[in-house]
Amino acid sequence: EDEGGSSSSDGNGGGKKITLGFAQVGSESGWRTANTKSVKAAAKDAGYTLKFSDAQQKQENQISAIRSYIAQKVNVIAFSPVVVTGWDAVLKEAKTAKIPVILTDRSIETSDDSLYVSFIGSDFTDEGRRAGKMLETVLEKAGHKGAVKIAQLEGTTGAAPALERAKGFKEIMDADHKDDWKIVVSQTGDFTRAGGKQVMAAFLQSNPDINVLYAHNDDMALGAIQSIEAAGKKAGKDILIISVDGVKDGFVAMSEGKINGIVECNPLLGPQLMELVKKVNDGETVERRIKTKEGDFLQEQAKDALPTRKY
Ligand code: AHR
Repeated sequence: EDEGGSSSSDGNGGGKKITLGFAQVGSESGWRTANTKSVKAAAKDAGYTLKFSDAQQKQENQISAIRSYIAQKVNVIAFSPVVVTGWDAVLKEAKTAKIPVILTDRSIETSDDSLYVSFIGSDFTDEGRRAGKMLETVLEKAGHKGAVKIAQLEGTTGAAPALERAKGFKEIMDADHKDDWKIVVSQTGDFTRAGGKQVMAAFLQSNPDINVLYAHNDDMALGAIQSIEAAGKKAGKDILIISVDGVKDGFVAMSEGKINGIVECNPLLGPQLMELVKKVNDGETVERRIKTKEGDFLQEQAKDALPTRKY
């Protein structure tokens, strides 16, 4: 798929028009839809030619897309890696072809730092810590007494946001709640609504006494709410819910009292990414790690914040 204008006019201050190859994860969540829109709109505004591909959450599709961008000799490649491992070979091919690579949203594990120039996106470990802190507040507000039996809906197995959101949350648990909190079930829902619904239904069968759900994204929480209600329980009351992202539908559920708190993760990375692409293309030195800024939201803020949500 090719996006952006086809004229050869300059969108970058007199130089040749930049061609950017962007290999997206998929369209698994509301967050991803907003991220894709942001990237496409910002590339258009910047006057770049955008080659865009959707990997449908499959690493092999993303690797093929990157290979095709190398073959097409794009100026810069940006991608949001489905999982953290297994990128060295294809990124070495990009390096040999002298095409700079930018990671957006998700990080990778590699022993060779020269395989990408910069990583722009959220700090997922911190999001996990913030979710843990938020649960403390939510339990207190609910006047919760007794054991906290947590169900965790993990993101895609092996993906940075799944690994790190679990890690950050566990840090808070291990430091301050060793005795009173317990993750009784934890499984992937692949960041999708359908996954969240299905896995939560199974959780409720095996562990009917769950009283907290920590979902690694809003979409899985929204799917889980359907199963909680189908089981005759009240989401946000019988089962307190914390999730991550802050998409509109998440805010709607929170304003209805069904989600208790949301840790924001900003998908609107397009404009910052395009600035970075320009610098990289011009051969400027860029920051190795660019973190996006985010907020935390509780139920009482949901109604006021809803009209101002941009994704
Ligand atoms: O990588 C970011 C995560 O991917 C978002 O939190 C989730 O909704 C998406 O699918």
